[in-house]
Amino acid sequence: MRQTPIEIFTRWFKEELKLTKVRIPTASCLSTVGQDNYPNARFVSLKEIVESNFIVTGTLTSRKGFEINETNKVALTFWWTETERQIFC
Ligand SMILES: Cc1cc2nc3c(=O)[nH]c(=O)nc-3n(C[C@H](O)[C@H](O)[C@H](O)COP(=O)(O)O)c2cc1C
Repeated sequence: MRQTPIEIFTRWFKEELKLTKVRIPTASCLSTVGQDNYPNARFVSLKEIVESNFIVTGTLTSRKGFEINETNKVALTFWWTETERQIFC
């Protein structure tokens, strides 16, 4: 049976975790759109996936919290060094 994108993500992540020695393998780049309409990006740490939602924690009063609230436009990008896979959500 064909796997869903989340199932593929989970399988690929497990494959990476078996091989990687990096200290924060959940690190990913969270991109948002600023008030000036230009992108802003910073690293965050994926906490878990719940019902196809990627859970990242942080304060709502931070810049990213404000921008997510304002625009609802977000991208989360992973680069896994051992399996050489990049994932864009
Ligand atoms: C590897 C790594 C993981 C991070 N994980 C988080 C995180 O899960 N949540 C968070 O709020 N900030 C995290 N940070 C800090 C953010 O990159 C950022 O500096 C901070 O959240 C303020 O961002 P903002 O002003 O754009 O909101 C992490 C930084 C690094 C380098």
